Amino acid sequence: MSEFIYLDSGATSYPKPEEVYTYMDEFYRKLGVNPGRSGYDICMEAGEVVEDTRKALTKFFNGTDPDRLCFSYNSTDALNLIAFGMLEKGDHAITTTIEHNSVLRPLYHLWKFNGVELDHIPFDDKGFVDPDDFKKKFKPNTRLVMVNHASNVIGTIQPVKEIGRLCRENGIPMAVDASQTVGKIPVDMEDLNMDVVAFTGHKSLLGPTGIGGLYVREGIEIRHTRAGGTGVRSAVKTHLYEYPYRLEYGTPNTLGIAGLKAGLEWVEQKGLDNIHGLETRLNRMLRDGLAAIEGITLYCQEDLTDHIAVLLFNVDGMEALNTGTLLDVDYNIACRTGLHCAPLVHERLGTSEIHGGVRFGIGPFNTEAHIQTAIKAVAEIAEMQRKRQ
Ligand SMILES: Cc1ncc(COP(=O)(O)O)c(C=O)c1O
Repeated sequence: MSEFIYLDSGATSYPKPEEVYTYMDEFYRKLGVNPGRSGYDICMEAGEVVEDTRKALTKFFNGTDPDRLCFSYNSTDALNLIAFGMLEKGDHAITTTIEHNSVLRPLYHLWKFNGVELDHIPFDDKGFVDPDDFKKKFKPNTRLVMVNHASNVIGTIQPVKEIGRLCRENGIPMAVDASQTVGKIPVDMEDLNMDVVAFTGHKSLLGPTGIGGLYVREGIEIRHTRAGGTGVRSAVKTHLYEYPYRLEYGTPNTLGIAGLKAGLEWVEQKGLDNIHGLETRLNRMLRDGLAAIEGITLYCQEDLTDHIAVLLFNVDGMEALNTGTLLDVDYNIACRTGLHCAPLVHERLGTSEIHGGVRFGIGPFNTEAHIQTAIKAVAEIAEMQRKRQ
């Protein structure tokens, strides 16, 4: 069997750096207790790992107060905390059609069941939303703009800085779904005018699944929508008001936090420029290689500026699922087919009717050889399909 090639980094990063596996194993053996809840040594030490990670992530986002970095299960969880904690009956929210279901579904729920008004800004032929379109939709009751930083389907990086500037001018908070960008490109909340950022640990931060979080800029309030133990001030009858407790409930995922810490350290050591630089070079090679194949539809423009290394295509006349199966079974290449939890993107691309597309997602452990093999595999599948037609 040929070498296994992982091109599904849009879904999650795999493998993780060796340092992540080693640190998680060591951490859980030595410090796998409930963190910061008691005064014995390993409990305090485990608590320090949690707080150190909070601090490191706050710095990474250029935030100012580590207490405003709250851990959650993943970005879906963080985005739910944001949507349900910031919107109520009579409010208006704006989002886009490039979003993942982790933004679309909470907002749809609020629209359908909780009396929240909702607008979706469409993206253009190149895959970008226009900041001015947001401005046109601002209303006196607009309480939240929720926008994707980079698409998990077509890889386009949205102009969040300009959207954020317009939001600030109009006193509207902007929350950004940075699931696909954190660990690939800088997510500097100050520079990008972000008020809240939601992230997940298992993608480009190279941590395990089950950990993520949000950073909430000072001056922004998110109501708590759950309640429970926080490990401190147990006599208080209501859920605690102060961050991070306000948005954290129950025993945290310490093993996940430890893995996230090690992943973040790896990313910082490598440097975002190096990671994004390598992935973009490979994406360029992949895009050009696929574009040269007869019988392929590529959903990616020539210019890869403002793109992360995620690429969508179809072999003409072949169901995406079948292309994915051939890549898997005949070539040992892992990718993701279907709608990628972003149905409105496929609606816009016209790929909904053909059950979506085939997505390659490049990660920091991919090589030129992987990309060349993938191009050759797709070329052979396309040739086979042409002969069948
Ligand atoms: C853009 C985007 N938002 C949100 C998510 C949800 O991430 P998670 O499943 O870790 O909550 C993903 C995951 O694919 C994503 O790509």
